[in-house]
Amino acid sequence: MKGSALNSNGILRMISKFPRNKLPMGAALGIAVLYWLYIFTLYRIPSDKEIVNEVLRQGNVWKKNLTAALMFRKQLEECCDPKNLFAVTKQNTPLGSTLWYDGEFFHSLSVNNDTYSLFIKETPLQQALKKCAVVGNGGILKNSGCGKHIDKADFIMRCNLPPLSKEYIQDVGTKTQLVTANPSIIEKRFRNLLWSRKAFAESVKIYGSSYIYMPAFSMKPGTDPSIRAFHTLSDINANQTVLFANPEFLWNVGKFWKARGIHAKRLSTGLFLVSLALGLCEDVTLYGFWPFSVDLNEQSISHHYYDNVLPYSGFHAMPEEFLQLWLLHKSGTLRMHVGPCPDEV
Ligand SMILES: *[C@@H]1O[C@H](CO)[C@@H](O)[C@H](O)[C@H]1NC(C)=O
Ligand SMILES: *[C@@H]1O[C@H](CO)[C@@H](O)[C@H](O)[C@H]1NC(C)=O
Ligand SMILES: *[C@@H]1O[C@H](CO)[C@@H](O)[C@H](O)[C@H]1NC(C)=O
Repeated sequence: MKGSALNSNGILRMISKFPRNKLPMGAALGIAVLYWLYIFTLYRIPSDKEIVNEVLRQGNVWKKNLTAALMFRKQLEECCDPKNLFAVTKQNTPLGSTLWYDGEFFHSLSVNNDTYSLFIKETPLQQALKKCAVVGNGGILKNSGCGKHIDKADFIMRCNLPPLSKEYIQDVGTKTQLVTANPSIIEKRFRNLLWSRKAFAESVKIYGSSYIYMPAFSMKPGTDPSIRAFHTLSDINANQTVLFANPEFLWNVGKFWKARGIHAKRLSTGLFLVSLALGLCEDVTLYGFWPFSVDLNEQSISHHYYDNVLPYSGFHAMPEEFLQLWLLHKSGTLRMHVGPCPDEV
């Protein structure tokens, strides 16, 4: 039942544990009602104001807890083996094996010579990374002056091909070692790479010689655009390397966070990246992870640092994700940066 749990809500997941013909209707309804009660009455997300107060109460006090960080990394290694499995490689996905899409109901791809040739030989990033920065795209970064802080990290991860043009670098920095690209962006911004591919090739230059991490095997319609992105860059000997996210890794990371109480159809790209960073890096600092409409002074802010386009509601559970990350901040596992960065670096 691999596809069902991620794709559908928990009701389906619970029901799917029973043989279909043996589940009485009453029991199904009972489960549905209990589930509904759990989600909508027992579980309450604090309001934006409560969260702001909590963050202010904590202030700038933060101390790394090495024990907590190592424990968390161990848990991630046990569930998801980020180091060896985060990307599809020739090593972890041999010719003839089957890739199960993590975002589809029972959809798979068997690896033939053509697809196999697209995979990188072995997992990069085998050496331990020291200081990593994961940069979310939240409007909280605007006028934060965090660019220099971010650029001081050894390894910088960004989400969804964000703009890094001149007007933003003071706030978000200039360097990138890994950037995610959702196939939906290829579709929206680059006409699915069915026409001219120059705009795409030009626009990724800003990320230097980074990895472009694409969930090519999560949703069916995402595979072809991802493969076109791969060929576009490889045909011109671009400095960027396309890595395909391993659907098994994404699936396992999704399960990991679900067990910790994130009720979303799908995790955000940001949380996948944080999980990867926690698995690969000694120190992890997050910037721009703030899914609320006001900053710490309760001034309203835009949704992203570069625009105010709101996401589809109901797909991700950003406040829930924030609360989980905040717990990791408080335990000293990672550092979450909210608000402006001090001048002296
Ligand atoms: C560090 O984390 C560990 C494991 O969570 C905990 O037992 C310990 O009390 C923490 N140490 C400090 C100084 O907070
Ligand atoms: C795949 O490639 C190998 C080596 O290039 C070749 O021996 C094999 O016949 C190919 N298989 C298919 C199904 O094309
Ligand atoms: C790759 O990077 C080098 C050095 O920064 C640069 O000179 C070259 O133009 C880049 N190649 C492409 C295709 O962007």
